[in-house]
Amino acid sequence: MTEHCNAIVAANPGGPDVLELVQHPVPVPGPGELLVKVAAVGVNFIESYQREGIYKVPFPFTPGAEAAGTVAAVGPGVTSHSVGDRVATAEGIACYAEYAIFPAVAALPVPSNLPLDIAAALPLQGMTAHYLMNSTYHVEPGQTVLVHAGAGGVGLLLTQMLKEREARVITTVSTEEKEELSRVAGADEVLHYGDFAAAVREYTDGVGVDVVYDGVGKDTFDGSLASLRTRGTMVLFGGSSGQVPPFDIQRLNAGGSLTLVRPKLNDYLLNARERMWRSTEVFNAAAAGTLTARIGARFPLAEAGAAHTALQGRATTGKVILQP
Ligand SMILES: NC(=O)c1ccc[n+]([C@@H]2O[C@H](COP(=O)([O-])OP(=O)(O)OC[C@H]3O[C@@H](n4cnc5c(N)ncnc54)[C@H](OP(=O)(O)O)[C@@H]3O)[C@@H](O)[C@H]2O)c1
Repeated sequence: MTEHCNAIVAANPGGPDVLELVQHPVPVPGPGELLVKVAAVGVNFIESYQREGIYKVPFPFTPGAEAAGTVAAVGPGVTSHSVGDRVATAEGIACYAEYAIFPAVAALPVPSNLPLDIAAALPLQGMTAHYLMNSTYHVEPGQTVLVHAGAGGVGLLLTQMLKEREARVITTVSTEEKEELSRVAGADEVLHYGDFAAAVREYTDGVGVDVVYDGVGKDTFDGSLASLRTRGTMVLFGGSSGQVPPFDIQRLNAGGSLTLVRPKLNDYLLNARERMWRSTEVFNAAAAGTLTARIGARFPLAEAGAAHTALQGRATTGKVILQP
């Protein structure tokens, strides 16, 4: 008899209320796959784009790429993992559930002193922060960086990692509470949006920043370009305020020979070596206490819709977790 477990399903694209708790069959791991009993699920902005139909996914759809838990079964041919191993991933399948499939190659070992809910808060946003500052643009000590949404999931991790690198970090936030969190994470200067480009110029003695990490998108894009130094780099990595409309490339010339890049995590996890490099550095820093993953909100699995409403409504700080 097929066993069933709780899972979230969206029958069709739509608002947060399309996310419904259902019973679905416990998935069976195929070759190269693990079945994982999920302890905590990481909620990420991308799942709201998928739910809304902005990023194309097949419906009915169970969201969730990020989770941590223990291996409940291994698929044919898997020798890398065993039942009982503690694992986390940024590349899981249908993780808004009590049981989910992790590809074995993407199942990251969790250090024994790292709680599983913290492990669920790190893979996607932590490895994103890692590739943004090491690979999309390699930040050097002493460089000046602008990070939008400094109290968000990526923002808090990226700020801490940039300070470890001894960069100068300017962030933007929308509230006093978020300002305080961003400062605790190490930001040297915290701005409240508005004419942030003018404030950045003033703070940098008219020079501008070396690189902008912009996950806010539509509302900040123009100001981000205007915040860059000559030959600066604009890293557009998301659109929490909406997607940036089509863009005239000549603006890069007029802005001072700027570079614009639009990266995504999957392209920076190309093989086992790259995955291991990024995840080991992030997990080890968290286990050693030099990187803090702040869980700003926890929701029961059944309230996935409320979690999306909070995330999209700017009501969250740090990481949002679902607990099956
Ligand atoms: N390309 C990649 O590889 C990759 C990977 C991970 C995440 N991302 C992107 O990175 C961004 C941050 O992701 P996250 O999961 O860490 O989310 P998050 O930053 O925790 O949450 C989004 C934040 O964006 C800010 N924001 C500004 N304008 C907003 C608006 N109009 N509506 C909603 N939020 C607004 C809010 O902070 P304030 O209130 O302080 O403004 C909000 O808290 C997202 O765009 C996500 O898609 C991209």
